[in-house]
Amino acid sequence: MMKSAAVLTTSALFAFVSAVFVPLAACDNGSGAVKREPPGSNAGALAAGDPVETLYRDRCSGCHGATGRGDGSLSTTMQVKPRDFTDSAWRATSTDEKVRTAILKGGKSVGGSELMPGSPDLEKRPEVLEPLVKKVRAFQR
Ligand code: HEC
Repeated sequence: MMKSAAVLTTSALFAFVSAVFVPLAACDNGSGAVKREPPGSNAGALAAGDPVETLYRDRCSGCHGATGRGDGSLSTTMQVKPRDFTDSAWRATSTDEKVRTAILKGGKSVGGSELMPGSPDLEKRPEVLEPLVKKVRAFQR
Protein backbone atom coordinates (compact mmCIF):
# COMPACT_ATOMS: atom_id res chain seq x y z
CA MET A 1 0.00 0.00 0.00
CA MET A 2 2.74 2.42 1.03
CA LYS A 3 4.76 1.46 -2.00
CA SER A 4 2.10 2.23 -4.58
CA ALA A 5 1.38 5.55 -2.91
CA ALA A 6 5.04 6.43 -3.32
CA VAL A 7 4.97 5.45 -6.99
CA LEU A 8 1.86 7.52 -7.50
CA THR A 9 3.50 10.52 -5.88
CA THR A 10 6.60 10.15 -8.04
CA SER A 11 4.68 9.95 -11.28
CA ALA A 12 2.43 12.83 -10.28
CA LEU A 13 5.55 14.88 -9.61
CA PHE A 14 6.99 13.86 -12.97
CA ALA A 15 3.78 14.81 -14.74
CA PHE A 16 3.84 18.18 -12.99
CA VAL A 17 7.46 18.84 -13.89
CA SER A 18 6.88 17.86 -17.54
CA ALA A 19 3.73 19.95 -17.74
CA VAL A 20 5.58 23.02 -16.51
CA PHE A 21 8.94 22.68 -18.23
CA VAL A 22 8.19 21.09 -21.60
CA PRO A 23 5.99 23.97 -22.81
CA LEU A 24 8.67 26.40 -21.62
CA ALA A 25 11.31 24.61 -23.67
CA ALA A 26 9.00 24.36 -26.66
CA CYS A 27 8.30 28.09 -26.37
CA ASP A 28 11.99 28.80 -26.47
CA ASN A 29 12.48 26.95 -29.75
CA GLY A 30 9.14 27.66 -31.23
CA SER A 31 9.78 30.87 -33.11
CA GLY A 32 10.09 28.95 -36.37
CA ALA A 33 13.00 31.14 -37.44
CA VAL A 34 15.47 28.29 -37.13
CA LYS A 35 14.72 25.10 -39.04
CA ARG A 36 15.40 22.17 -36.78
CA GLU A 37 15.84 18.49 -37.45
CA PRO A 38 12.91 16.21 -36.65
CA PRO A 39 13.19 15.21 -32.98
CA GLY A 40 13.84 11.55 -33.82
CA SER A 41 16.99 12.04 -35.87
CA ASN A 42 18.38 14.57 -33.46
CA ALA A 43 17.88 12.25 -30.49
CA GLY A 44 19.57 9.43 -32.40
CA ALA A 45 22.59 11.58 -33.18
CA LEU A 46 22.96 12.55 -29.55
CA ALA A 47 22.65 8.96 -28.38
CA ALA A 48 25.20 7.58 -30.83
CA GLY A 49 27.54 10.54 -30.52
CA ASP A 50 28.74 10.66 -34.12
CA PRO A 51 26.20 12.10 -36.60
CA VAL A 52 27.97 10.47 -39.56
CA GLU A 53 27.77 6.99 -38.02
CA THR A 54 24.14 7.62 -37.11
CA LEU A 55 23.33 8.75 -40.64
CA TYR A 56 25.02 5.73 -42.21
CA ARG A 57 23.20 3.40 -39.84
CA ASP A 58 19.81 5.03 -40.43
CA ARG A 59 19.95 5.70 -44.17
CA CYS A 60 22.50 3.36 -45.72
CA SER A 61 23.19 0.19 -43.74
CA GLY A 62 19.74 -1.31 -44.44
CA CYS A 63 20.95 -1.83 -48.01
CA HIS A 64 24.74 -1.52 -47.95
CA GLY A 65 25.26 -3.30 -44.62
CA ALA A 66 27.02 -2.18 -41.44
CA THR A 67 30.41 -3.19 -42.87
CA GLY A 68 29.70 -1.82 -46.38
CA ARG A 69 29.52 -5.18 -48.13
CA GLY A 70 26.13 -4.57 -49.73
CA ASP A 71 24.54 -7.18 -47.46
CA GLY A 72 22.06 -5.10 -45.46
CA SER A 73 18.77 -6.72 -44.48
CA LEU A 74 16.88 -5.13 -47.41
CA SER A 75 19.42 -6.34 -49.95
CA THR A 76 18.13 -9.94 -50.03
CA THR A 77 14.94 -9.00 -51.88
CA MET A 78 16.39 -6.33 -54.15
CA GLN A 79 16.56 -6.81 -57.94
CA VAL A 80 19.81 -4.84 -58.16
CA LYS A 81 22.21 -5.55 -55.31
CA PRO A 82 23.44 -2.56 -53.31
CA ARG A 83 27.02 -1.68 -54.09
CA ASP A 84 29.63 -3.61 -52.09
CA PHE A 85 31.93 -0.78 -50.97
CA THR A 86 34.71 -3.26 -50.17
CA ASP A 87 34.87 -4.51 -53.77
CA SER A 88 38.37 -3.68 -55.01
CA ALA A 89 37.31 -3.15 -58.65
CA TRP A 90 34.74 -0.57 -57.54
CA ARG A 91 37.17 1.03 -55.10
CA ALA A 92 39.69 1.46 -57.90
CA THR A 93 37.30 3.37 -60.16
CA SER A 94 35.22 5.33 -57.64
CA THR A 95 35.91 8.97 -56.86
CA ASP A 96 34.77 11.35 -54.12
CA GLU A 97 32.80 13.21 -56.75
CA LYS A 98 30.88 10.15 -57.95
CA VAL A 99 30.14 8.93 -54.43
CA ARG A 100 28.96 12.41 -53.42
CA THR A 101 26.66 12.60 -56.45
CA ALA A 102 25.22 9.13 -55.76
CA ILE A 103 24.51 10.10 -52.15
CA LEU A 104 22.85 13.38 -53.05
CA LYS A 105 20.97 12.36 -56.20
CA GLY A 106 20.61 8.60 -56.00
CA GLY A 107 22.00 5.66 -57.99
CA LYS A 108 20.51 6.69 -61.32
CA SER A 109 22.49 9.94 -61.35
CA VAL A 110 25.73 7.98 -61.67
CA GLY A 111 24.42 5.51 -64.21
CA GLY A 112 23.27 2.99 -61.63
CA SER A 113 19.99 1.75 -60.24
CA GLU A 114 17.12 3.99 -59.22
CA LEU A 115 16.61 1.65 -56.26
CA MET A 116 19.30 3.68 -54.54
CA PRO A 117 17.52 6.77 -53.16
CA GLY A 118 19.14 10.20 -53.01
CA SER A 119 19.58 12.30 -49.88
CA PRO A 120 19.35 15.84 -51.34
CA ASP A 121 19.00 17.35 -47.86
CA LEU A 122 22.70 16.59 -47.24
CA GLU A 123 23.67 19.27 -49.75
CA LYS A 124 23.13 21.74 -46.92
CA ARG A 125 25.07 19.62 -44.41
CA PRO A 126 28.61 19.39 -45.85
CA GLU A 127 29.94 18.75 -42.32
CA VAL A 128 28.14 15.40 -42.48
CA LEU A 129 28.21 14.74 -46.24
CA GLU A 130 31.99 14.98 -46.67
CA PRO A 131 32.87 12.56 -43.83
CA LEU A 132 30.16 10.22 -45.18
CA VAL A 133 31.85 10.24 -48.62
CA LYS A 134 35.17 9.43 -46.90
CA LYS A 135 33.54 6.67 -44.85
CA VAL A 136 32.03 5.01 -47.93
CA ARG A 137 35.39 5.08 -49.73
CA ALA A 138 37.31 3.77 -46.72
CA PHE A 139 35.50 0.43 -46.41
CA GLN A 140 37.76 -2.47 -47.32
CA ARG A 141 38.14 -6.16 -46.76
C1 HEC B 1 17.15 1.10 -50.76
C2 HEC B 1 18.51 0.61 -50.72
C3 HEC B 1 19.64 1.62 -50.68
C4 HEC B 1 19.85 2.60 -49.75
C5 HEC B 1 18.98 2.95 -48.55
C6 HEC B 1 21.11 3.22 -50.10
N1 HEC B 1 21.62 2.65 -51.22
FE1 HEC B 1 23.36 3.10 -52.13
N2 HEC B 1 22.97 1.77 -53.60
C7 HEC B 1 21.88 0.93 -53.64
C8 HEC B 1 21.93 0.13 -54.85
C9 HEC B 1 20.92 -0.91 -55.26
C10 HEC B 1 23.10 0.53 -55.52
C11 HEC B 1 23.64 -0.05 -56.81
C12 HEC B 1 23.36 0.83 -57.95
C13 HEC B 1 23.93 0.19 -59.17
O1 HEC B 1 25.06 -0.29 -59.14
O2 HEC B 1 23.21 0.17 -60.15
C14 HEC B 1 23.72 1.57 -54.71
C15 HEC B 1 24.90 2.23 -55.05
C16 HEC B 1 25.55 3.11 -54.24
C17 HEC B 1 26.83 3.72 -54.55
C18 HEC B 1 27.67 3.42 -55.78
C19 HEC B 1 27.50 4.43 -56.86
C20 HEC B 1 28.41 4.01 -57.98
O3 HEC B 1 27.95 3.30 -58.86
O4 HEC B 1 29.58 4.38 -57.97
C21 HEC B 1 27.15 4.51 -53.50
C22 HEC B 1 28.40 5.35 -53.34
C23 HEC B 1 26.08 4.42 -52.54
N3 HEC B 1 25.12 3.56 -53.02
C24 HEC B 1 26.05 5.06 -51.32
C25 HEC B 1 24.97 5.05 -50.44
C26 HEC B 1 24.94 5.78 -49.22
C27 HEC B 1 26.09 6.57 -48.63
C28 HEC B 1 23.70 5.59 -48.68
C29 HEC B 1 23.11 6.23 -47.44
C30 HEC B 1 23.07 7.67 -47.46
C31 HEC B 1 22.98 4.69 -49.58
N4 HEC B 1 23.79 4.39 -50.63
C32 HEC B 1 21.70 4.23 -49.38
C33 HEC B 1 20.89 0.83 -52.71
C34 HEC B 1 20.74 1.66 -51.61
